Amino acid sequence: MHIRHFERPFEDVKDLFVISTKNTEYCIGTVYDEGYVSHLYYGKKLNDHDFSGLIRINEYPYGRAGKEREKCSFHDCLSFEYPSHGIGDFREDCLSVETAGGNSACLPLFDSFEIIEGKPKITGLPATFGKKDEVTTLILHCSDKVLKLNVDLIYSSFYDNDVITRSVKISNNADGYIYLKKVYSACLDMDNKDFEALSLHGSWARERHIERTKVTHNKTIIESVRGESSHQDSPFLALTTPDTTQETGEVYAMNFVYSGNFRTGAFLDQFDHIRMFMGIGPEDFKWKLVPGESFETPEVVMTYSDKGLGKMTRSFHDLYREHLIRSPYLHKKRPILINNWEATYFEFDTEKLIAIARQASELGIEMLVMDDGWFGKRDNDSCSLGDWTVNENKLKGGLKYLVDEINKLGMKFGIWFEPEMISPDSDLYRAHPDWAIHIKGREGVRSRNQFVLDLSRKDVCDHIYEQVASILRSANIEYVKWDMNRQLTDIGSAELPADRMGELFHRYVLGVYSLQERLMTEFPNLLLENCSGGGGRFDPGMLYYSPQIWCSDDTDAIERLSIQEGTALVYPLSTMGAHVSDCPNHAVGRTTPFMTRGHVALAGTFGYELDVTRIPKEDVSMIPAQVEEYHRYNDLVREGDYYRLASYSANHTYDLYGVVSKDKREALFTFVQVLGSVNRKSRRIYFRGLDPELRYRIDENERTYTGDMLMNAGYLIPEIHGDFVSILIHMEVYDG
Ligand code: DGJ
Repeated sequence: MHIRHFERPFEDVKDLFVISTKNTEYCIGTVYDEGYVSHLYYGKKLNDHDFSGLIRINEYPYGRAGKEREKCSFHDCLSFEYPSHGIGDFREDCLSVETAGGNSACLPLFDSFEIIEGKPKITGLPATFGKKDEVTTLILHCSDKVLKLNVDLIYSSFYDNDVITRSVKISNNADGYIYLKKVYSACLDMDNKDFEALSLHGSWARERHIERTKVTHNKTIIESVRGESSHQDSPFLALTTPDTTQETGEVYAMNFVYSGNFRTGAFLDQFDHIRMFMGIGPEDFKWKLVPGESFETPEVVMTYSDKGLGKMTRSFHDLYREHLIRSPYLHKKRPILINNWEATYFEFDTEKLIAIARQASELGIEMLVMDDGWFGKRDNDSCSLGDWTVNENKLKGGLKYLVDEINKLGMKFGIWFEPEMISPDSDLYRAHPDWAIHIKGREGVRSRNQFVLDLSRKDVCDHIYEQVASILRSANIEYVKWDMNRQLTDIGSAELPADRMGELFHRYVLGVYSLQERLMTEFPNLLLENCSGGGGRFDPGMLYYSPQIWCSDDTDAIERLSIQEGTALVYPLSTMGAHVSDCPNHAVGRTTPFMTRGHVALAGTFGYELDVTRIPKEDVSMIPAQVEEYHRYNDLVREGDYYRLASYSANHTYDLYGVVSKDKREALFTFVQVLGSVNRKSRRIYFRGLDPELRYRIDENERTYTGDMLMNAGYLIPEIHGDFVSILIHMEVYDG
């Protein structure tokens, strides 16, 4: 059993729960007979579970006299599994309510538990899943008897993945309504180990840069209040011990399976203990829970590693590839696409697209993706979102004609939508101004000349779904890029009553999920790529619907090193949308060798984002070899174990990462010399992840070495000339 229950294992603890994974253990105790649910331990697997000497409940000033003890001090120090508001735990809490009488206190205490094989679904939300023999779930039924509020704390152990997921279900059993003002999904109270907080921070075109700061008494808060998980902060947080490297040190990590407002953070309390938490962002959140109804939180994916960040990364990658992404493309090579965005922007027509596709198909490119600008009157970004009808001035002969012509070239066809948006200059807005998220009487803030549709409304979702689906039904469209280019402001819905307006942000996300669920149900073989102005919604929630997400609008190979490093810290390479684009790069103006651009894009889904009829002939001539490399290495990149060996963001000189196949018989490492330096001689690097006993043959020099040689004695990268240059080092087991 991966989850065990012990009754009265030692004094003060009534029930002990031990949640095991292959290498880790998570222990919970119900303290005293009142049923406080207390965190006891998370870390490396133990041989003993006697925590009696480790619970600080008998120390001054809490007193020991049973229920007579000083409760306020006790609450403010106990390691809670799910701390609640207003009862004397003055630290950041996870659950806060507002009763009809205006009170906010609540205290859920333990009633009973269930252990079940498998994992229940979370209504309306994306979540990890697994078969009965892959995942076991513990539900701790708790309640606040005064409020008649049931609080289920749900933990699932993915044993082989060293992952525990957590979510919470709150049910109102009272006769009247109650408002939920904050409902986080997970909390971790531990003693401090000089922890640092590692998070992913950024901006548009600069997504997911790794940031590491010491955790102090000042709260570290990472959050989005933008309605999407956002370019700025990612729903991910890891606590690391100061010695943590890729290979060594302890890591406690949380990642949120959610695509809207979130808050995560960590801080030291007055006793220097640490609290880490994660959940739906409480700002602008207020949920009315009527009698008999439940609210289910999105889930947090938690992992612990005592072998550094590398092990954490591989646990996340495996979990997402095995238990989150559902697409039939997950384990398949994605067609190499050419997207016309950076090639033409809004200036294209059927002829132009066919010209690009014709040349691309001759070079081995497999799919044309028609980006923004094919519908309504859209020749720039000022109009037509919401009017999903083909602009036949541009697409002469219609969409089906274009798709058929592309298919005749032996290529697949893909299309761009931005279904969540509405332009003020659109027929849809003229007919339904109230379908936009807005506050009555206030002129809404525009961003990219557009408003956001109120997807909390079923009529709006139904209309948009039909628009998108009828386009997809009209031709042989095999790929959709689902874009989302602005954040949510002026939060108001024409349909929600005043006391439910605080539900809009979350209901919006539920609307997005329902649309994507419908889409994938009607078009199960569609390859869906999510996108949000680049990587503004790169999160596990989106991966439940699409196997890949456009990583960033910055396609410069050097900028991408840091963006892809931060992204791959948590998400599998198979999910990272990465393309070769033209130079000087449209985002930063840098010129890099075409070969380097190809090598960097190989670490993701791989494709092109350029006008193949206009780029230099030397670049065109390199495409067939790049296509061949993709076909040769993609199985390995998509399915293998990722190792980060050196980081350009940290050393400012070069980048080095690799992928090793699960059976350790093949590996591909990518070395990028960002800045050249004269008279340095060769650089010695040390591979990782190989089998020390096996002998590998390196393609480049045809020599063979044992894995232990390559990992411990190292390998010399010859001095290479220039900036922004890269080499691939591919090796396979040599049986000769
Ligand atoms: C933002 C995306 O990230 C780009 O790739 C492109 O699709 C534009 N939107 C189109 O408006």
